[in-house]
Amino acid sequence: MSTMRIHIYGDPVLRKRGEKVTEFDDDLLVFLDDMAETMILEDGVGLAAPQVGVSKQIAVINREPGNSDTLLMVINPEITLFGDETESMDEGCLSVPGIRGKVTRSVSLEMTYQDEKGEQQELYAEGLEARIIQHELDHLGGVLFVDRLSIAKKVLIKGKLRELSKRGREGG
Ligand code: CO
Repeated sequence: MSTMRIHIYGDPVLRKRGEKVTEFDDDLLVFLDDMAETMILEDGVGLAAPQVGVSKQIAVINREPGNSDTLLMVINPEITLFGDETESMDEGCLSVPGIRGKVTRSVSLEMTYQDEKGEQQELYAEGLEARIIQHELDHLGGVLFVDRLSIAKKVLIKGKLRELSKRGREGG
């Protein structure tokens, strides 16, 4: 296993839609392992492949932060139903260090995905898990949580984002 570098805001890979995974082979298993290790090392609750510079539909979700036995690894995921109830909560992101802000998201959802063997799976999630899933799946579509902040908050963090963006483009 090895850990990977986290790509920072401003890096174009974070704005690309990840490609669908079509091969479920040993390379994929190694990649999933490396992603999980990187996420745990960086103390993240989730990690999407574009964040480690790989533009693919893959995300790792830490369902119970602090318990790495309950990692959820999703490939080619799709949210099929957003619950009507929404909630606003503080979020952060390993790719946007130093910035946090309130994001409104659905409290529950249903999704489909493929597991590491390529088997089709279905999942219902709510609460923190549903929030992490929505955040990570945003990454797979090139969307970052800062895009979803209020206009007022966006104005406040504009300078910080510009600084990060310089670092991100330089590959820092
Ligand atoms: Co993130």
